[in-house]
Amino acid sequence: MIGTLLLLLAFAFTVQCIEKVEIRGNAFFYENGTRFYMRGVDYQPGATSNLTDPLTEVTTCTRDIKRFTELGLNTIRVYSVDNSKSHETCMKMLDDAGIYLLLDVNTPDASISRKDPQCSYNADYLQNVFATIDLFEKYDNVLGFFAANEVINDEDTIDTAPYVKAVVRDMKKYMKARNYRQIPVGYSAADVSQVRKDSADYFNCGDDADARVDMMGINDYSWCGKSSFKQSGYAEKMKEYEGYSVPLFLSEFGCNEVPGARPFTEIGSLFSTDMSSLFSGGLVYEYSEEENEYGLVNIISSTEVELKDDFINLSEQLNKTSNPSGDGGYSKDSEHSECPDWDVDDVPDMPEAAEIFFERGAGQALGFDHDGTQWMCYNSDMSNYFSDVASSSTSRRSSTSRSSSTSSSRSGNSNSNSANSNSNSEAATTTNGAALVGGSLLTSAFGALLCLL
Ligand SMILES: *[C@@H]1O[C@H](CO)[C@@H](O)[C@H](O)[C@H]1NC(C)=O
Ligand SMILES: *[C@@H]1O[C@H](CO)[C@@H](O)[C@H](O)[C@H]1NC(C)=O
Ligand SMILES: *[C@@H]1O[C@H](CO)[C@@H](O)[C@H](O)[C@H]1NC(C)=O
Ligand SMILES: *[C@@H]1O[C@H](CO)[C@@H](O)[C@H](O)[C@H]1NC(C)=O
Repeated sequence: MIGTLLLLLAFAFTVQCIEKVEIRGNAFFYENGTRFYMRGVDYQPGATSNLTDPLTEVTTCTRDIKRFTELGLNTIRVYSVDNSKSHETCMKMLDDAGIYLLLDVNTPDASISRKDPQCSYNADYLQNVFATIDLFEKYDNVLGFFAANEVINDEDTIDTAPYVKAVVRDMKKYMKARNYRQIPVGYSAADVSQVRKDSADYFNCGDDADARVDMMGINDYSWCGKSSFKQSGYAEKMKEYEGYSVPLFLSEFGCNEVPGARPFTEIGSLFSTDMSSLFSGGLVYEYSEEENEYGLVNIISSTEVELKDDFINLSEQLNKTSNPSGDGGYSKDSEHSECPDWDVDDVPDMPEAAEIFFERGAGQALGFDHDGTQWMCYNSDMSNYFSDVASSSTSRRSSTSRSSSTSSSRSGNSNSNSANSNSNSEAATTTNGAALVGGSLLTSAFGALLCLL
């Protein structure tokens, strides 16, 4: 027992405490008052065609964090995680490397659907979102959550906007109800000129502060080859977004239309006073080479990558570009936006069935096995997410229209309703799950205590 304690203490003393980042006005700041600019990449090896959570496999996150550090990055964006698995080790390694996570809370099957947004906004969908928040809220290096990515793609899909805005509101209210840190919530907008600025205004307008985003990501592929601030259209965008009241950043950038390696000369503009009054850096699309050929590296094996010329060019640009000095001319107290002239429904009320989560947390996290909530036009029996209720209400469960295979896989999982204590590959060496959970809780407690000292 004493040995275990010493081990825990030794571990606790290696804990480094990442500086928390918070929003002031339209910019991010470290707690110590220095302005924070995102130097980041989008990170989802396998993309959607081979959906893999990159923060659960220690071998691959070790392989890649080394490269993030080589580039001097401080942020990665992940588009989908499996909320039924542990992310403890990779999150700790990122923290040690001074790297923050921007996390999209959706999966391909659990997200707001363009085809039928109203149907897809259901309590089972929200359960998946909330379970992801339950899993990640405890990490100080979570910089923010994206409620959605590129749902509004053109003028025909603006009818989805009220449902996405409802998700923003529900996430913010959920974190308040659960007494979590108020992690910023944002939306990541498509690079479509007809709806881009209106989307930014829509998500940042209205009297209900909970329904407004805390930050806004813009996906932007307008700087192609060796372009310039003016030629790329960046200068125009600075005018377009003038007075925008919450932090803006490029949530995807890196046009690959010009043949050959990308020069990434936009880095020089993005991290200059040409843009720092509104923009707080951005995330290069994307780390790994996938079918669409935007990669910085080719993945060779679980331990090895091959650096593309894009990686070297990006590294060179990042190395020679420092952040603007001082506060970069950010704005402390701009007003939120006016709502655009869009003929869309009101932001819908949250489905009543989801209210149980505000009291109890999200319950059992189902990860990538979660039913395709996109196509559910109903709310299933929420008690299914809580093993204590579900085990005594088999008859109620069978009265829902969920498929029996889902019900049995859920009830067959004997884990507690805390997402954090789910079994995971990292824990495989420990046979006593309870001891492991207790141990990691204790270590976290030590860590937190030391961070306060
Ligand atoms: C604040 O913290 C950041 C991140 O650790 C560091 O880079 C920066 O130099 C610090 N600023 C001051 C004024 O200490
Ligand atoms: C999908 O990803 C897994 C895990 O990274 C990998 O082992 C597998 O080879 C990939 N499959 C394809 C078809 O790329
Ligand atoms: C980027 O890499 C390519 C290929 O190696 C090279 O020709 C080009 O000059 C590089 N660009 C910059 C800006 O260094
Ligand atoms: C950029 O700086 C890092 C760290 O100092 C270094 O490892 C890397 O080689 C540099 N990149 C280039 C292209 O010189």
